[in-house]
Amino acid sequence: MTMTPRLRRVALTAHVLSSVGWFGGVAAFLVLAVAGLASPDAQLVRAAYLVMGLIGWFVIVPLALASLLTGVVSSLGTTWGLFRYYWVLIKLLITALATVVLLVHMGPISGLAAAAATALPGSDFQGLRIQIVVQAGAALLVLSVATALSTHKPRGMTGYGQRQQRRVLEPALDAGPAAPRGNPRGGIE
Ligand code: HEM
Repeated sequence: MTMTPRLRRVALTAHVLSSVGWFGGVAAFLVLAVAGLASPDAQLVRAAYLVMGLIGWFVIVPLALASLLTGVVSSLGTTWGLFRYYWVLIKLLITALATVVLLVHMGPISGLAAAAATALPGSDFQGLRIQIVVQAGAALLVLSVATALSTHKPRGMTGYGQRQQRRVLEPALDAGPAAPRGNPRGGIE
C-alpha cells in the first residue's frame, strides 16, 4: 500500500505542518500559563486562562490528532512502516501518550477557563496552575525529541522490521546477481 510520490509529499506536508504547529501551540500555551501564574495584573491573569482554554481546544488538540493521523498515514503509505524502525515506533508511542495526557487535562483546563470568565481563579486552582506550567514545558521537550528523531531517522530496526526485510531480500538474492536489489534502508532520506 505504497503512496504515489505526489500523495506522499502531500501527506508529509500535512504531517510536518500539524506536528511542528503542535509545538508552536504548546509554546504559546506555556507563555500564557506562566503569565497566569506570575502576573500581578488580575485582568491579564483572567484573560490568559480564558485564551488557554481556546488554544487548547481549537489549536493544540486538533493539531495533536492531525499529527497522529498524518504520521500513521505517512508510515503505512511508505516503506518506513509503523513497526519497522525504532524512530517511527518511538514517535508513535510518544505521540499517542502525549495525546492521551493532553485530552485528560483538557477537562481541568476548561474548568480553569470557566472560573476565569467570572473572577480571578481561587486558591483551589493553585495546584493546577503550577501543574500546567510544568506539563507544557515537558510537552515542549517531548515534542523536540520527536522532531529530532524525525530529522535524524536513526538506523535501528526492530526485530519485526529485520524479519520483514529478510523476507523481501532473500528471494531476490537467491535468484542470482541479476536479480533486483531491495533497499535495505527501507525508506527515502
Ligand atoms: C510529536 C509528534 C511528531 C513530530 C514532531 C513529527 C515530526 C516529523 C517531521 C519534522 C518529519 C519530517 C522529517 C523529514 O522528512 O526529514 C516527520 C516525518 C515522518 N513522521 Fe513524524 N512526527 C510526529 C509524529 C509521528 C507519528 C505519530 C508517526 C507515525 C506513527 C510519524 C511518522 C513519520 C514518518 C513515517 C515520517 C517520514 C514520512 C516520509 O518520509 O514520507 N510521525 N515527522
